[in-house]
Amino acid sequence: MSELTVRHAEAAPLPDVDLSTSLGGVTFPNPVFTASGCAAAGQELDQFFDITALGGVVTKSIMLAPRSGRPTPRMAETPSGMLNSIGLQGPGIEAFLEHDLAWLADRGARAVVSIAGGSVEDYAKLAMKLRGRPGLAMVEVNISCPNVEDRGQVFACDPGAAAAVVQAVRRNTDTRIPVFAKLSPDVTDIAMIARSCVNAGADGLSVINTLLGMVIDTATMRPVLGGVTGGLSGPAIRPVAVRCVWQVHQALPDVPILGMGGIRTGLDALEFVLAGASAVSVGTTVFGDPTAPVRVLHELAHALAQRGFGRLEDAIGLAHRPPEIYVPEEPDPVGDDQLPLVRQPVGFEEER
Ligand SMILES: Cc1cc2nc3c(=O)[nH]c(=O)nc-3n(C[C@H](O)[C@H](O)[C@H](O)COP(=O)(O)O)c2cc1C
Repeated sequence: MSELTVRHAEAAPLPDVDLSTSLGGVTFPNPVFTASGCAAAGQELDQFFDITALGGVVTKSIMLAPRSGRPTPRMAETPSGMLNSIGLQGPGIEAFLEHDLAWLADRGARAVVSIAGGSVEDYAKLAMKLRGRPGLAMVEVNISCPNVEDRGQVFACDPGAAAAVVQAVRRNTDTRIPVFAKLSPDVTDIAMIARSCVNAGADGLSVINTLLGMVIDTATMRPVLGGVTGGLSGPAIRPVAVRCVWQVHQALPDVPILGMGGIRTGLDALEFVLAGASAVSVGTTVFGDPTAPVRVLHELAHALAQRGFGRLEDAIGLAHRPPEIYVPEEPDPVGDDQLPLVRQPVGFEEER
């Protein structure tokens, strides 16, 4: 998209739809956020569009100490997706607070700070460091990290470990700041992990992190990534992500969900909302189109208006409604008139 088009998109008025959304007691003006790790702390994207136009900016997961990440190569292309093994490279919490969070606060953006650690204590310390910081709107807990105290078992794959992290973060975070736990799709029963996080005090859930994947170079006959395995993201994972949002919303209909995974358009975002997400994050798409989050926001608003919604809220989880059943006026000619028929609601024939 050209710069001209972006300016036009930003300048174009949004349709008359109430896009505000409530996440764990905090109201955000709209439901489109960046995704952790795909937009650093927002400075780069702010060259392309006004990042305060987004519901919030989710920052790259920050750890206590500076970290150089995993060996290169760290990215590999896959059909309809991207494999990354960045390994949480970052400046550490002190530099992050001084430069990144301070910048976001000055800019007037709503910062969702993603934190990551190797032990429950790490997470607790990170939460304490964030207390009372201007600009902080929400904490996202990245639990897709290996637990150094438990043979590298990923927190997000174990209900007890996930709960321990969430509890530690919730206890050490200002009560008015929502704490969201970010779930991994690499589990057998995502609703079970979701429930465990909520019972431990999570105000909401971010769904989903990347899926563990791997690519082998058939010329060198070795893994492409320096870290061997990596996280799969992009359109390839969207149906998995929608399924996860659906299952979590079905199990916990009152818990707000920040949904993500392969969102490229407003209609993709709408799919997540209909599955039960109260807001969405736009991640991998940003690497090819830095204006994607604000474009998705406009497209989502138009998609809602076209379907007659006056409020985003009314679309959240709507795909869970029971099928409409009707009795045909005339008996079915093939004689199956004993069975209720399921009528498909009239849909929209739109190009994605
Ligand atoms: C390069 C890259 C880095 C990422 N880094 C993080 C991270 O630091 N913390 C985190 O919770 N998720 C991280 N993610 C996962 C995304 O936030 C998101 O959950 C996932 O990519 C699915 O969304 P997408 O398909 O729109 O990218 C990263 C993803 C990518 C592609």
